[in-house]
Amino acid sequence: MDWGMKNRLSRIIRPDDGRCLMLAVDHGYFLGPTERLEVPRKTIAPLLPYADSLMLTRGVLRTSVPAESHIPIVLRVSGGTSIIGEDLSKETVTTSVEDAIKLNASCLALSIFVGSKYEHQTLANLSKLVDEGEKYGIPVLAVTAVGKEMARDARYLGLSCRIAAELGAHIVKTYYCDNFEEVAEGCPVPLIIAGGKKLPEAEALKLSYDSVHHGAVGVDMGRNIWQSDWPVAMIKAVSAIVHRDVDTKEGYGIFLKEKEKDRSGQKSSQKVVQ
Ligand code: 5RP
Repeated sequence: MDWGMKNRLSRIIRPDDGRCLMLAVDHGYFLGPTERLEVPRKTIAPLLPYADSLMLTRGVLRTSVPAESHIPIVLRVSGGTSIIGEDLSKETVTTSVEDAIKLNASCLALSIFVGSKYEHQTLANLSKLVDEGEKYGIPVLAVTAVGKEMARDARYLGLSCRIAAELGAHIVKTYYCDNFEEVAEGCPVPLIIAGGKKLPEAEALKLSYDSVHHGAVGVDMGRNIWQSDWPVAMIKAVSAIVHRDVDTKEGYGIFLKEKEKDRSGQKSSQKVVQ
């Protein structure tokens, strides 16, 4: 592996513990102004100090993240569909590698839709992107997107993850499922787990714990952080689970403690304003 590729990967997966906390804020690329991500700048700013990297599109990067920021960027470069459109799987590559380099991206992210109508197109997109990324030393994160009709089980997710790795993805993002070890065993590159729909905080922390203890190197989490009423407390708790190996109970304790701190901070700033 060349130096640039290794260097960029080390900005996504921390070399000190081999783990990763990626903050996902790319949802608008097909969902539009998602709840609590309506104004991306406001959602992102308080969370930036606690994330290892940020996953987003070029439009949100340019408008909503200060260029002085040192946060490593995982640039989503696939899209071209919407939640109300014909078929979500009909994605294309939306951003050139040249633009990604101008934006100083540390990693490129693209969705594949195994088992969908446009499976072939999305797998071809991935292969071409890996070729481009290899030219410039930029790793590719394959997002194993799951259609509504697909089962999120070890057989299907294992199939999708393995195909992504075989086509050259450097990191694969998938979902946690029963028998996740089987998915991890069959995938020769690092796996990270998407949070999915908003869960109660304790459940999302359990998901984070289970993921890193059953074969994932970390999480790529969005809604379970920024749709929480206490997003900073939540990202701090997820970080403790991912990087400090605390268990779910201790992680939830961290969440409650940080939530109290935020609550008292909010009360005292309200008093100052009054
Ligand atoms: C959207 C994505 C998201 O980045 C991914 O699903 C992670 O976000 P969440 O934790 O909210 O599921 O790829 O297509």
